[in-house]
Amino acid sequence: MNSPAPSAILPARLLRLRDGGNYRLRPLGPGDEPLVREMFASLSPESIRARYGYLIRDMTPERAHRLVAADPARDLAIGILERPPGGGEILWAIGRLVHAPDNRSAECAFLVHDAKRRLGMASYLLIYLRLLGRRRGVPRLFAQVRRENRAMLGVFRKHGGLLHFDPAGEVVEVDIPVRTSKILFDKPPAASSPAAMASPEKKSFSIVELVVDLVLCAAFFGYIFSLIKGHVPSLDPQMILLWGGLSAGCMTGVFWLALQMVKTVYRFQRANQK
Ligand SMILES: CC(C)(COP(=O)(O)OP(=O)(O)OC[C@H]1O[C@@H](n2cnc3c(N)ncnc32)[C@H](O)[C@@H]1OP(=O)(O)O)[C@@H](O)C(=O)NCCC(=O)NCCS
Repeated sequence: MNSPAPSAILPARLLRLRDGGNYRLRPLGPGDEPLVREMFASLSPESIRARYGYLIRDMTPERAHRLVAADPARDLAIGILERPPGGGEILWAIGRLVHAPDNRSAECAFLVHDAKRRLGMASYLLIYLRLLGRRRGVPRLFAQVRRENRAMLGVFRKHGGLLHFDPAGEVVEVDIPVRTSKILFDKPPAASSPAAMASPEKKSFSIVELVVDLVLCAAFFGYIFSLIKGHVPSLDPQMILLWGGLSAGCMTGVFWLALQMVKTVYRFQRANQK
């Protein structure tokens, strides 16, 4: 594989997480080695063991370099960082994607600092690694997780990963299809766990769209009113107007909601085909 397509490069995203803090999710690269070393210096041995299967006692500059600046065509790392008031950056979480030799799949792995667990960091990293995997043309992601790692299995389960337990084995094989129905929500984040994300992509307001919606709603209202008015049990034209208008108004409200839902789904599908 040659260097990744421009679409496979992720612009920095702003995240607001459950603790109310503002974070940036961005690709890691050469120059981020000191941040990796600082992160490792304060990680618990259990976290390092859970991630690598052994304890890394010394995160040397070379090792840190391999983590963030390997071959970008086969290997990428993204991180979640915070900018403290005093300046600089703190790296709190790393997600990594490593292509299999045949490029038909890629392994993903995560490490979130002990101090920032259950804020949705791994969830965001997974969402964006899946998006990047799709953009890089990889049909599936996979992971190998120790059976006792409930936290990691929980993250995968929550995001549609298929867990294959081998009764005799200690490792659970996880398959993460990059094209699932959840992919519709790759651009905005999964709503339930993390708080809303401020993405650089803002939903645009279009006056033309508003006028089209109003015309459609007015036509629908007129049509429904013409059907309903003959069924209002009254001979008083004012009562017919009132109850016919109210009923048609309610149904027009439902019509408007349905119209917005259809447009939203269509917009996401179109964005995903790009
Ligand atoms: C596994 C790990 C990456 C999870 O990171 P995280 O940012 O805390 O995960 P999230 O906040 O995105 O959690 C998403 C969901 O996963 C599940 N989950 C996460 N941690 C869990 C835990 N300790 N116990 C049970 N479920 C858990 C929950 O369903 C959670 O959603 P909720 O908080 O809305 O209930 C983190 O614990 C870690 O770095 N562990 C050490 C390294 C490691 O094991 N890496 C994996 C190697 S394969």
